[in-house]
Amino acid sequence: MRSRGSRYNHPRLRYREHDFNAGAIPNDFAPESVDIVVCRLVMAFLDRARFLSDVRRRRRPDGVLYVMTPIYEKQPDHAHRGVREEAIARLGDGWAESTRCDLCDDGCVTAVVLRGPQG
Ligand SMILES: C[S@@+](CC[C@H](N)C(=O)[O-])C[C@H]1O[C@@H](n2cnc3c(N)ncnc32)[C@H](O)[C@@H]1O
Repeated sequence: MRSRGSRYNHPRLRYREHDFNAGAIPNDFAPESVDIVVCRLVMAFLDRARFLSDVRRRRRPDGVLYVMTPIYEKQPDHAHRGVREEAIARLGDGWAESTRCDLCDDGCVTAVVLRGPQG
């Protein structure tokens, strides 16, 4: 993230390094302040329960979480770290709306868009 920060400088962009498994999302992201969280090829590395509950707390009431991930069962050589189907099916728990779209013909990578508050 540090190198991206120096490469893509823009007054309205801030880059921060954060280990989501080591700690909660930093406090300067106030509750209900985040419009969109893009989680692309990262979910398989994370403590999902913790990350999802953190994101739910920080997103605006109409906020969106976009998750794009390889599917574990569809990676025959396990070259890419994937999330199990069963866990993908449960991603929508606690969200008002969940839309899934498989991104390749054999469904090896999927995208899930989660929207809206619940609980
Ligand atoms: C396959 S790369 C994807 C990078 C980028 N999102 C993309 O789509 O090109 C996996 C990323 O997950 C990040 N990652 C892994 N564990 C993490 C953690 N505990 N907290 C934050 N990021 C993590 C790594 O830093 C790495 O950038």
